[in-house]
Amino acid sequence: MHRPTSHTEYLALCKEIWSHNRLYYQQHAPQVSDKEYDRLYALLEQCEKDHPEWIFPGSPTQRVAEGLSGAFPTVAHKSPMLSLSNTYNREEVQDFIQRVKKLLEIPDPVFCCELKMDGIAISAKYENGIFVQGTTRGDGKTGDDVTINMRTIQSLPLQLPMDNPPAILEVRGEVFMPHSVFHQANAAKAAQSEELWANPRNAAAGSLKLLDPKEAARRKLSIVFYGLGNTKGLPVKTQSQVHDFLEKCGLPTLALRNHCKTLEEIFDFARKVADARPTLPFDIDGIVIKLDSLEGQQHLGTTAKAPRWAVAYKFAAEQATTKIHAITVQVGRTGVLTPVAELDPVKLAGSTIARATLHNYDEIKRKDIRVGDLVTIEKGGDVIPKVVGVDLSGRGEHSKPWHMPNECPVCGTAVVQVQGEVAVRCPNTKGCPEQQLRRLFHFVSKGGMDIDTLGEKVLEQLIQKGFVQKLPDIYRLNAEQLFQLEGFKQKSVENLLNAIETSKKVPLTRFLLALGIKHVGEGIAELLAEKSATIQGLSALTTQDLLSIDGIGEKVAESVLSFFADSEHREEIDELLSLGVNPIQETRQIQYNPFFQNKTFVITGTLPTLSRQEAIEAIKSRGGKVTDSVTKKTDCLLAGEAAGSKLNKAQLLGIEIIDEKTFLSYC
Ligand code: IVH
Repeated sequence: MHRPTSHTEYLALCKEIWSHNRLYYQQHAPQVSDKEYDRLYALLEQCEKDHPEWIFPGSPTQRVAEGLSGAFPTVAHKSPMLSLSNTYNREEVQDFIQRVKKLLEIPDPVFCCELKMDGIAISAKYENGIFVQGTTRGDGKTGDDVTINMRTIQSLPLQLPMDNPPAILEVRGEVFMPHSVFHQANAAKAAQSEELWANPRNAAAGSLKLLDPKEAARRKLSIVFYGLGNTKGLPVKTQSQVHDFLEKCGLPTLALRNHCKTLEEIFDFARKVADARPTLPFDIDGIVIKLDSLEGQQHLGTTAKAPRWAVAYKFAAEQATTKIHAITVQVGRTGVLTPVAELDPVKLAGSTIARATLHNYDEIKRKDIRVGDLVTIEKGGDVIPKVVGVDLSGRGEHSKPWHMPNECPVCGTAVVQVQGEVAVRCPNTKGCPEQQLRRLFHFVSKGGMDIDTLGEKVLEQLIQKGFVQKLPDIYRLNAEQLFQLEGFKQKSVENLLNAIETSKKVPLTRFLLALGIKHVGEGIAELLAEKSATIQGLSALTTQDLLSIDGIGEKVAESVLSFFADSEHREEIDELLSLGVNPIQETRQIQYNPFFQNKTFVITGTLPTLSRQEAIEAIKSRGGKVTDSVTKKTDCLLAGEAAGSKLNKAQLLGIEIIDEKTFLSYC
């Protein structure tokens, strides 16, 4: 190829370079030397210098944008990005197959089995064959627009190598960091005494969210696709054809996959994948079993969270054996002391493990775990590794049982164990510096106020310098103080102050999680936020109000009440509000549906596939209401198995009664 002299020749050169990129990055089978590739690329660069008007987003030169992205705008997914229900054994997979057979009323469904990538779910949009937008899964309904960083992924074509690309093509897949890149990057971090990434998945997630696309490009992420998003009218009838179609589009797909008709065939495939797992260049955590027929998929539909036509079969966690050289004690945000095994570093599931949780003292006593023991450790997904077994035969003569210290290792206060609880605690909740740090860290972390640039190391410095003691102090920080922190320059100071400012507009649910109220997890926080709408409203709820919320029992009610009864907590919240923190109740995106709109539903009995929460969500997100008891005002009763008095009453009142199948057909 010579230097292009016309626009047509320029486009042909782009196509030629894309084809070499594909051969190199996807098929690992380059057909030209690096030198020849560089020559073509230089021709293209020169041509674009001469004709800047020809440059378009699909050009191979347009991978890495100049400058910083600032932030990632949120994007609503046109069709939701669901997750998958998990299965862990043959019975659960068998149940799935039976369910599909029953619901579809066919005896021999075919399944497409493929790898379950352990990466970051993304959606990629192509308009007329040009990559225009990349989004993370987020909460499934909206995600972050990470286009600028996705463009840097070499195996992602910015232009599809086809003549008549669809006007709009939305494809779903996973961004991941290959093991080799992960190990190299962690070695470089270790050399700089930087904190290491826990696993390739975290590394990929962090890299996709980098503000500087040049840095993101250095992270050498990869991508594969396994599905379609909001795209209609494609010539595909089965999941296998979806893969073929993706391949035809020049997109990287999951090569290891199989058609399976029986449980046996599915498990043969699972075994084959499990055997190949240690040799794969990336992390997987199981296989995905999908009904092959897309028409069948459509028929089965989805629950609020996951499709009914697919399940994940998760592999057992990978294990490794190593020696405990010490047992240390960690103090948590509520004062709970957790013993931690300090291990001789060992490779496990793509990362090097040097510590594992021992949970609590009872667990250590029960398993008789001692310093010097050879132990089996296990890691599943991104959970902290744990010790699952001890090899007693390797124990030396001088080995002694381990004992929990009588004093908090950080503040020296005598520890306590509440009757009936396994946890040993440091009772110095207000004065123990470690509890203070943990509480602050929990407050700013992702599930809470999500101030992402405020990591543990920075918080430690802020506490040490006396700038931060209580939660509200974070919102009093100023540039002058931040400049005193190690490594903080203009840009990092600005970033942190911006992140703090942005965090003030926090959904009420996350604010509640940030406060760290005992027994209040995500589901409960959502129920509380829905009931009270504001934090002031919530603090005024009585026991009765709390117990009237479906899903809240006495334990939670008591914990919420005692949290708000503590004047220090109330003062802290008041201060946060006066400093501008404004927890807002998120409004649900309602897609009105005439069957549900303005109707009052009651749910009773056990539904065959939907959980109660999923059914409630399905009704509310379509404009309906859900109450607990059947009255004249009830429009419809959704009845599952073992429905009792509510069903009788609805029959008496002549209220419409539907089962789950009918319910889902209206969704
Ligand atoms: S299908 C609506 N296929 O696993 C169907 N997902 O645990 C959902 N994942 O959020 C996606 N490999 O990010 C599908 N071969 C595969 C997958 C896969 C990995 C991820 C995906 C999903 C998560 C659920």
